[in-house]
Amino acid sequence: MAPVNPIRVTERAQKLATEILRPGDIAVDGTAGKGRDTACLAQAVGPSGHVHAFDIQPEAIASSRNLLEVTALIDRVSLHLRSHAELVDVLTPAQRGKVGVAIFNLGYLPGGDASIITQPTSTDLALREAFSNLRPGGRLICVAYTGHPGGTEESDIVLKFAEEQAAAGLHVEKIGYYPTPGKPWILVVNKPAA
Ligand SMILES: C[S@@+](CC[C@H](N)C(=O)[O-])C[C@H]1O[C@@H](n2cnc3c(N)ncnc32)[C@H](O)[C@@H]1O
Repeated sequence: MAPVNPIRVTERAQKLATEILRPGDIAVDGTAGKGRDTACLAQAVGPSGHVHAFDIQPEAIASSRNLLEVTALIDRVSLHLRSHAELVDVLTPAQRGKVGVAIFNLGYLPGGDASIITQPTSTDLALREAFSNLRPGGRLICVAYTGHPGGTEESDIVLKFAEEQAAAGLHVEKIGYYPTPGKPWILVVNKPAA
C-alpha cells in the first residue's frame, strides 16, 4: 500500500468521517487543534447533531472556538479543555454508545509548542473508550505520525489496538501504514451495523 501524502492525510481522514456521519449524529474530535476537523464534523452532523471536541491546550481551544464562531457552527459543538482520555466523563448517559464518528489526529499543534504531543497511554485509553461508545455502523479514525520524537512509540500503540480489533473480526484498515519512520498513516475501524 502506498504511503499517504502528509498534505492530504487530514483531508482523507475528514472524508472517511463525513461518509459515515448523518444529520443528528453525535461526533467526537479527540484532538481539536485548530478546529478544522471539529468544523468538518459539525458541518456533517447538522444543526440537530452535536460534536464533543477535546484539547489540553488553551491555545488550541481558543483557535477552535474562533473557527467555529466564524463558520457559525459553535452552537452544535462543546469544546473541552481536558484530555480525550476523559471522553466517557463528558458524554451524557444518552450519548453513550451513540457516537457516529470519533476522530483523532495525533501529534502536536501545527505552529504551536511541538513538545506538547499526544501520549501513548492516554491515546490508547481514548481510542478504546471512543470505539466502545460508537453506535452500530459508527467509525473510529486515527491519524498517527511517526516523524516526531515519541511518534513511533505512539504509532505502535495504535497499531496494537488495530491488530486487536482485526483479531476480534472487525473491519480494520491501515491506510498508508508502512513500518518506515516519518510517514503518517490512518487507522479506520468500523463498528458493525446492527
Ligand atoms: C495534530 S493536532 C490536531 C489538529 C486538529 N485536528 C485540527 O484539525 O486542526 C494534535 C492536538 O492534540 C492535542 N493533544 C495532545 N494531547 C492531548 C490529549 N491528551 N487530549 C486531547 N488533545 C490532546 C494537542 O494539544 C494538539 O492541539
